[in-house]
Amino acid sequence: MPSASSQSPQAIRGAFLDFVNDPFYVSDAESVRYIPDGLLIVEKGAIADFGSYADLQAKYSQVEIVTYPGKIIMPGFIDTHIHYPQSEMIAAYGEQLLEWLNKYTFPTERKFRDKAYAQTIASLFLDELLKNGTTTALVFATVHPQSVDAFFEEASRRNLRMISGKVLMDRNAPDYLTDTPETAYEESKQLIQKWHNNGRLLYAITPRFAITSTHEQLRLAGKLLQEFPDVYLHTHLSENLKEVEWVAELFPECKNYLDVYDRAGLVGEKSVFAHGIHLSEDEFKRLSAAKAALSFCPTSNLFLGSGLFKLHKAKSLNQPIKVGLGTDVGGGTSFSMLHTLNEAYKVAQLQTQSLSAFKALFLATLGGARALSLEDKLGNFDPGKEADFVVLDLQATSIMATRTGGLSTRLAQGSTETELREELAEKVFGMMMLGDDRAIHAVYIAGELVHR
Ligand code: GUN
Ligand code: ZN
Repeated sequence: MPSASSQSPQAIRGAFLDFVNDPFYVSDAESVRYIPDGLLIVEKGAIADFGSYADLQAKYSQVEIVTYPGKIIMPGFIDTHIHYPQSEMIAAYGEQLLEWLNKYTFPTERKFRDKAYAQTIASLFLDELLKNGTTTALVFATVHPQSVDAFFEEASRRNLRMISGKVLMDRNAPDYLTDTPETAYEESKQLIQKWHNNGRLLYAITPRFAITSTHEQLRLAGKLLQEFPDVYLHTHLSENLKEVEWVAELFPECKNYLDVYDRAGLVGEKSVFAHGIHLSEDEFKRLSAAKAALSFCPTSNLFLGSGLFKLHKAKSLNQPIKVGLGTDVGGGTSFSMLHTLNEAYKVAQLQTQSLSAFKALFLATLGGARALSLEDKLGNFDPGKEADFVVLDLQATSIMATRTGGLSTRLAQGSTETELREELAEKVFGMMMLGDDRAIHAVYIAGELVHR
């Protein structure tokens, strides 16, 4: 519920960093927007104006200004793949994907039959996201429709832009967690009608992965997607080698893993596939042609020993694929997108690639918005977009202060463009490698301060 204060304009002054284009494809000069002394005007939850303080000061002289000296203000982080019911089983020891699902994940998800329990965890989960500067996420619930209701009710209370959906699973899972093709279809349909575009909430049809759905269930998921073409499709793809082998046995008629989803009509512009580690050339090609997105989940891929995501391949110029970042909690080991960028950097290093701070932060903001087809609403400070943003502290810990030295006077006030960008890249790299929730100084949702 917007408060009275959000109805009148507010102004935030400080150093702003966002992206106006993709630094994987154009130069930093053409993609990075850094305004050392900027002013952001927010009205009715949206960005009404944005530019340098010097340019805008006179126009908004009547508006009260909140200033963040020495901080960097960025668009809120976007997590393109996470499981809220797995919050409590984060960091489960010793297993890789298939064993991990059976031993830890399924018994935990069983608890979400109880709506009150689901509500408690959803609330804790959303608080944790906000504390880490994540303002939008694409979220797995469980097979229980009430787990989706609980999640959306909590997200709605916080006025968050969130995407979620009921998990579809009709085989290769315990009886207590399975639905049928028909109940999956009917329950998902009712949830779409109830929640999709309800305030800031959006729905994703969510088959868990090819292993836990029959042909018939995937077919009905495709039918539903045809009936509601603007809802999302969210699932897992080619994460683990044993998983890939099993999919080939279950679907011998399919060319490859992605083809299982493709034949059911599940591969399109609003499809988001988590992982995509062991993809063939044909699958990369098809994802690019379909304008589907991949969610790169480095902490999970390392923790579960799944493998190394080929970011350079997915972001190639000749066959570009939309890529966002995911924490994949509880396979992933941190809610923090900064921490996730740290691990993304290391995954790239193991493949002799260097992931620059600007490219990494692009993935966490505008790149994530593009992966979720939300670039008209989120991802940078363009006027008209929703005012979800974070205030970052480069000196949040003593070692961060020592490493980054905070924002120099030049960075706070401006210098020549190239020098400034190079110095900025160096400092924000330090922040991305050393930062976590302590670097999140403040979080705004639709212009409202919600965490400090
Ligand atoms: N594949 C199918 N289900 C899951 C899950 O819950 N987590 C991860 N990381 N991969 C999956
Ligand atoms: Zn996952």
